[in-house]
Amino acid sequence: MINPGTRDSWIGVLGGGQLGRMLCLEARRMGYKVLQWTGGDVSGAAYLADLVLEAPFEAAAALDRFVHRVRVATVEFENIPGDLLEEIGRTLPVRPGAGAVTTCQNREREKTFLAAHGIPCADFHVVSSCQELEAGLQAIGGAAMLKTAEFGYDGKGQRVISGETPAEDLPALWADFGAGRAVLEEKVDLKAELSVLVARGPEGQVVTYDPAENQHCNQILDISIVPARLPDGVLSEAREIAVSIAEAFEYVGVLAVEFFLAGDGRLLVNELAPRPHNSGHHTLDACATSQFEQQLRAVSGLPLGDTTLLAPAVMWNLLGDLWIDEATPPDWSPVLGTPGAKLHLYGKTQARPGRKMGHVTFLGATREEALERASACRRAFGLPPVE
Ligand SMILES: Nc1ncnc2c1ncn2[C@@H]1O[C@H](COP(=O)(O)OP(=O)(O)O)[C@@H](O)[C@H]1O
Ligand SMILES: [Mg+2]
Repeated sequence: MINPGTRDSWIGVLGGGQLGRMLCLEARRMGYKVLQWTGGDVSGAAYLADLVLEAPFEAAAALDRFVHRVRVATVEFENIPGDLLEEIGRTLPVRPGAGAVTTCQNREREKTFLAAHGIPCADFHVVSSCQELEAGLQAIGGAAMLKTAEFGYDGKGQRVISGETPAEDLPALWADFGAGRAVLEEKVDLKAELSVLVARGPEGQVVTYDPAENQHCNQILDISIVPARLPDGVLSEAREIAVSIAEAFEYVGVLAVEFFLAGDGRLLVNELAPRPHNSGHHTLDACATSQFEQQLRAVSGLPLGDTTLLAPAVMWNLLGDLWIDEATPPDWSPVLGTPGAKLHLYGKTQARPGRKMGHVTFLGATREEALERASACRRAFGLPPVE
């Protein structure tokens, strides 16, 4: 157990993005110290840690400093080399463990793991050649999505293939996609998307948060609504599935499970994130325990926190598209003038289209009030209201 506030209550965080930043903010509030190993130059998001290592993840001297300073290691980003996690694991607890993180790094391993545990997911086929792509498309028998096995995020490394694509077009399509291995999955007729955050402690204690209803724009999360506007039966089933995944991994920490609700009523797991998640950012303002505090509690072996939603919330992601130029944000007055709106910016100095620069949480006495506040603000920035 790592009790916060002692001289050596150091948490080691691997990765250098905004999730690490928000983890640092919560860690500082609670009296932990954070050593963040970013693996390279970072955008500014990391500089809230007590100590930052920018060395590449291969650097032996950095590994030495890291393991000598911290009591437990965690990740804020899943693409940390698995052999590094295993190496750290020889000296310290790594939570979540290398097995869970490396499974979630790779869609092929992730889908295979889910299928092996009987977790419902969209029909999928691992493909490593044009012949396998053609066979997979035939087996799916309709529109499909081709996704690279590794390093995809925010819809990158994905391509929709229409069910009417002629077989003679496939060689060029496969060559152009340029992945050695990929996962081909049925294109689901989406009724809704939702996600569940589950936290599990080292002794197996488990808590879940209220599921979030998620809306994407250009495959990037745009809006999360909590409580979700979905039937109770769907929400409780999603929570149960999330717990069973955490248990199957013997997971320690916060795990995010993304789901599709299909038009035909199927609830399918889309993907997993072995860390706090964008769709859980509202927990900072709207829940008794934020997902970042929960991560610190879980990896430290402390009692898990109360996940109660204290107020209905709508989270809006702020992308770089809103910026006037790469260094100039818009005037935030419409947000700051809205009751119940909380602005979070991640300290990134360069805005780019599609880049996550911050988010706003809108709280309301009711979900409808939170939705109205979010819609009014979006209109002020020339965006459509939340549907
Ligand atoms: N099989 C699918 N059917 C329908 N929509 C999909 C499918 N796969 C992905 N999408 C859409 O693209 C979004 C991003 O895909 P996802 O697999 O979660 O990748 P990532 O979030 O890593 O970019 C999903 O949230 C969903 O809106
Ligand atoms: Mg996703």
